[in-house]
Amino acid sequence: MPMTEKPDIQELRQRIEFLEDQLEKTQRLAALGELTGTTTHEFNNILMTVINYAKIGLRHKDEAGKTHAFNKILTAANRAAKIVNTILAAARNRKKEFEPVDLIALTEDTLLLLEREMSKYRIAVEKSFPAGPSEKIPEIMADGNQIQSVILNLLINARQAMPDGGRLILKISYDEENEMIDFLVRDFGCGIPKELLPKIFDRYYSTKSGPDESGKGGTGLGLSNCKKIIEEHQGVIRVESTVGKGTAFTIKLPTVIRIKLIESRQRTAGREPSML
Ligand SMILES: Nc1ncnc2c1ncn2[C@@H]1O[C@H](COP(=O)(O)OP(=O)(O)O)[C@@H](O)[C@H]1O
Ligand SMILES: [Mg+2]
Repeated sequence: MPMTEKPDIQELRQRIEFLEDQLEKTQRLAALGELTGTTTHEFNNILMTVINYAKIGLRHKDEAGKTHAFNKILTAANRAAKIVNTILAAARNRKKEFEPVDLIALTEDTLLLLEREMSKYRIAVEKSFPAGPSEKIPEIMADGNQIQSVILNLLINARQAMPDGGRLILKISYDEENEMIDFLVRDFGCGIPKELLPKIFDRYYSTKSGPDESGKGGTGLGLSNCKKIIEEHQGVIRVESTVGKGTAFTIKLPTVIRIKLIESRQRTAGREPSML
């Protein structure tokens, strides 16, 4: 057979690279779409608060009543401003940019977006974050938007695993010995059968019949994306689950210090040949 009839490997490689690039861009846009959907609902909720308190303020003749209404309006508007900033930041940052990120603040921002959704589905979020200046944990080296999409995915999966509501535990802690930050998401939902556990990180694997009424889940892309993102951050994601009891996802992400150590080690290793 003449050589020319064989597919050009080089060309195929380039094609695959191009398609992977396109897929990644599409996934980023899908994540942004999901974020925008979530925040639009939340925004509507805030507007209702503003409108209602404006009406109350207008009705009240006394100073105290008016001040109370103004305070409520101000708090709601501040929340709206914060949410808009999150969206703008996510839309602006399309390419991967790693920088020091405060995981606790990022998680709090993400929870802000899901406040209404969690209360609607009667999910009680229990936070266990180090607090106070003495317990301050180091920053991770991360693309904040990507880590936010991981957190969103895990929280929404947990919420969907508890259709009748329940507890959702979030824990962040500092593993000083390994210079890693541990992030735990534990739900008390349906759980995952042991034989299916190896599948949940596969692309397109889903047990949901489609997006739920709030337009989330059913693509089977959530966890495969989470795994990809965490591994790009040189972290690990693990899962433990018991049917009928619940599921716990643990993420470990390297701190800025650890990343710097790895980088300096790599530089030293790179210099070795010339030093010999
Ligand atoms: N917290 C959880 N509790 C129970 N099952 C889960 C949980 N998280 C993920 N799963 C299972 O893993 C599957 C894949 O999750 P994911 O990749 O996020 O896709 P999707 O949410 O679109 O189905 C889900 O369909 C579900 O069966
Ligand atoms: Mg999901």
